[in-house]
Amino acid sequence: MSKRKAKDAPLPVGKCISEVQDILRKRLCHQQLPDTPEGVEAQHKHLLELLKRTAVHGESNSVLIVGPRGSGKTMLLKCVLRDLLEEKEVERNLLQVHLNGLLQTDDRIALQEMTRQLHLENVVGDKVFGSFAENLSFLLEALKKGDRSSSRPVLFVLDEFDLFAHHKNQTLLYNLFDVSQSAQAPVAVVGVTCRLDVLELLEKRVKSRFSHRQIHLLSNPTFSQYLERVQTQLSLQDDFPDKTFAQDWNASVKTLCEDKSVEDALQRHYNSSKNFRSNHMLLMLCLSRVSVAKPAIKPADLLEASKMCLIDAQANMLHGLSILELCLIIAMKHLNDVYEGEPFNLQMVHNEFKKFLQRKSNSMYNFEQPVIMKAFEHLQQLEMIRPVDSSSVKTQREYQLMRLMLDNTQVMEALQKYPQCPTDVKQWAMSAYG
Ligand SMILES: Nc1ncnc2c1ncn2[C@@H]1O[C@H](COP(=O)(O)OP(=O)(O)OP(=O)(O)O)[C@@H](O)[C@H]1O
Ligand SMILES: [Mg+2]
Repeated sequence: MSKRKAKDAPLPVGKCISEVQDILRKRLCHQQLPDTPEGVEAQHKHLLELLKRTAVHGESNSVLIVGPRGSGKTMLLKCVLRDLLEEKEVERNLLQVHLNGLLQTDDRIALQEMTRQLHLENVVGDKVFGSFAENLSFLLEALKKGDRSSSRPVLFVLDEFDLFAHHKNQTLLYNLFDVSQSAQAPVAVVGVTCRLDVLELLEKRVKSRFSHRQIHLLSNPTFSQYLERVQTQLSLQDDFPDKTFAQDWNASVKTLCEDKSVEDALQRHYNSSKNFRSNHMLLMLCLSRVSVAKPAIKPADLLEASKMCLIDAQANMLHGLSILELCLIIAMKHLNDVYEGEPFNLQMVHNEFKKFLQRKSNSMYNFEQPVIMKAFEHLQQLEMIRPVDSSSVKTQREYQLMRLMLDNTQVMEALQKYPQCPTDVKQWAMSAYG
């Protein structure tokens, strides 16, 4: 390190590290849009051209952006809007209304929000409208420029679009699509959704007014593309202030991605989810382990981060159980082993537990039946056990058939990590039947 300092007087390591963390955090925590979104160039071009037609040429339009969660729908739209607004004329003219199906849960609320975002509260005032359509066309009318007859183009973005289909009579959708088809005002309606079957939710009269343009984000990278993406996401670009540090960093990222154990861990992530969102989550956890003392991401960091990402919520919940509840789970595990996954009832579990107790001299585990019953109920509340047939309410509780919703490895792993688990309980869990 000192040699390098003498050669080209670089920044101190501490400064470099905080710079790296700053750059990557922005990239991974979604505060910064990518310059050119990777893998969706065609979709980007398509959407940009479509919106330009409304913003510049005053044509109306409607389009749906469809793709699974985390596939980059919002990111794509934001990138397109950023590029669209680069034109001064568009920036001056274009009005935007952003609605979200999770927030605007009925059309009245949606209309209020539209009025607010278009700054038309004063114009609307206390007016009473006969219908939704009347209200909407009043809003659009009010947007007409003072001196010219042409209206300002309006972009309506409906995030979680499918939820708007549940509004009464789909009035909002009907009216927006209707305006986007007639020549009333230049309007672009952009729906964003993760439901591929979204068109089937629309009423006939709504569907017939929609342009049927859809932009799909269904990218499915190969594993080598996925690996490459990890490397690009972690690499520094040429504009990093300290060239030597950037080179070292990029070399260390390359070594990291070539490590066999890292590749295996990434393969596991790739198999469960290929999108940027979960990928970024993993890399963010790796990044948080970088410090001045350790100015690179090591394979161990990635493996640890990967473990944290893949943590099993159900197995984790076992750590919060009481010893009695844990013992009942172990008894169920034994029953599962013996009866090969056949359902069991409380009485059988209790008997199994008693067998374990008989071998003990101390009475630390002496529990009354109602206490055991309560513990059993708690496990059911946590959905660790589930009745086989919920309709059989008539069966006495003790004899109701249940299934354990955890597998053996989950139980054993959780047990290893259980704080202060008594050794005899551990041994019992590890022993074969009985
Ligand atoms: N092509 C890409 N290049 C770089 N980052 C991307 C890309 N696609 C998605 N991302 C990142 O992945 C994250 C998730 O994307 P985004 O929020 O757009 O997903 P979404 O499809 O809108 O999901 P949801 O349905 O949950 O709203 C974002 O942080 C985004 O920056
Ligand atoms: Mg989104």
